[in-house]
Amino acid sequence: MMMMEHFRIKVLSLVIVTSFQMPGPVQGHKTVVPAIFVFGDGMLDVGNNNYVPSDAQQADYPYYGIDFPGSNPTGRFSNGYNMADFIARDMGFKMSPPAYLSLNTSIKMNANFTGVNYASGGAGIQTIINDEATIPFHYQVSNFNDTVSQMEANLGHQKLSKLLAKSLFLISIGTMDLSVNIWMLSRHSPRPSPFNIPNTLSSYKAIIMQLYGLGARKFGIINIQPFGCQPWARQNSNDHVQCNDTMNNLAREFNDGLKPLFSNLSSELSGLSYSIADFYAFSNAIFMNPLAYGFVNVNSTCCNPPCTPENEPPCENRKQYWFWDLSYTTERAAKLASCAFYDGPARFTMPVNFKRLIKIK
Ligand SMILES: *[C@@H]1O[C@H](CO)[C@@H](O)[C@H](O)[C@H]1NC(C)=O
Ligand SMILES: *[C@@H]1O[C@H](CO)[C@@H](O)[C@H](O)[C@H]1NC(C)=O
Ligand SMILES: *[C@@H]1O[C@H](CO)[C@@H](O)[C@H](O)[C@H]1NC(C)=O
Ligand SMILES: *[C@@H]1O[C@H](CO)[C@@H](O)[C@H](O)[C@H]1NC(C)=O
Ligand SMILES: *[C@@H]1O[C@H](CO)[C@@H](O)[C@H](O)[C@H]1NC(C)=O
Ligand SMILES: *[C@@H]1O[C@H](CO)[C@@H](O)[C@H](O)[C@H]1NC(C)=O
Repeated sequence: MMMMEHFRIKVLSLVIVTSFQMPGPVQGHKTVVPAIFVFGDGMLDVGNNNYVPSDAQQADYPYYGIDFPGSNPTGRFSNGYNMADFIARDMGFKMSPPAYLSLNTSIKMNANFTGVNYASGGAGIQTIINDEATIPFHYQVSNFNDTVSQMEANLGHQKLSKLLAKSLFLISIGTMDLSVNIWMLSRHSPRPSPFNIPNTLSSYKAIIMQLYGLGARKFGIINIQPFGCQPWARQNSNDHVQCNDTMNNLAREFNDGLKPLFSNLSSELSGLSYSIADFYAFSNAIFMNPLAYGFVNVNSTCCNPPCTPENEPPCENRKQYWFWDLSYTTERAAKLASCAFYDGPARFTMPVNFKRLIKIK
């Protein structure tokens, strides 16, 4: 998360030009699901932000990616793979779907097609903030719309509808909206923040309905972590260690709102099914008993900002740290969380885990 003081609010001006064609029919997959379409923020970004004009929200330089094959800084906000990668692998894909903005060649609807990732570090549900540094949720949906029309031109409407209805739509978003909201609250702004929870949730609902309108049926939703425990938030506390309860309460309020939102959506929209992954509860379970999960540090960064080779190297025991940098988790944290969401115990997903979700007919 960038410094709150540096937020700029202005009208979206990001223009992204892409075009691709998709020749050839879809061939058989060994996976249950034909494809994954990924939306949201830096937890799931696999390199879209490498292509945005501002470098304020990028992870395309070392030490990012230090544990990725070839120590390649791909734009993932991690030392290695992230949750989009692990969930794709859990589902049987060889790799995570590529970043939408990296697709300057035509998408080929062959056995290698795994879907597309639209997620962008720093993105919010409502926010049109730092539009040069991030791709907001509604713009990610426009990008998906563009993909849909390209796919439809190749597959025809019926085949495409089938493909989309079976695909997983993986989404992690909202932390940025809550961050802006709390920043405004801390400024004692006289007017209610437009980024308050009810507004943010109703925008979330509207965007999910748009995705449904475009053919999405199965939603894997990752809720908001206790973001008051991210190192940047802890650093602002008096003792530089305590989690920020005000922020965590806000995350809980948002997460509580997600449940009726999706349960209503599933009764309002025929064929819609979902799983809400409780990243909040999972993080807390780790924080309560880190050693049991092999973590020796769950309160500070492994890589100190700005996390470049000009500075001190990252911690060596990266598998034992929960946080990689001021905002994002390590590869190992992402791996454990993904595993819990895909095929874990009932307490971390509701009403079903992702594995059950993708099998719903
Ligand atoms: C797309 O083009 C950019 C710039 O030319 C290049 O860096 C990138 O590797 C290309 N992406 C793919 C998937 O070929
Ligand atoms: C799929 O990708 C692999 C590895 O990049 C490549 O060797 C293979 O030719 C591709 N298959 C198709 C059908 O394009
Ligand atoms: C998708 O694109 C079509 C035009 O191609 C447009 O009419 C429609 O409003 C778009 N839908 C969304 C949700 O962006
Ligand atoms: C929590 O964060 C908010 C916003 O940054 C700040 O105003 C508040 O003082 C913090 N609370 C504590 C206890 O650190
Ligand atoms: C869900 O539906 C119930 C009953 O129609 C309604 O009272 C409630 O406000 C709805 N909640 C959301 C979040 O849509
Ligand atoms: C933060 O984590 C370190 C490493 O586990 C630990 O030594 C320290 O006690 C923790 N600080 C607090 C106040 O929890």
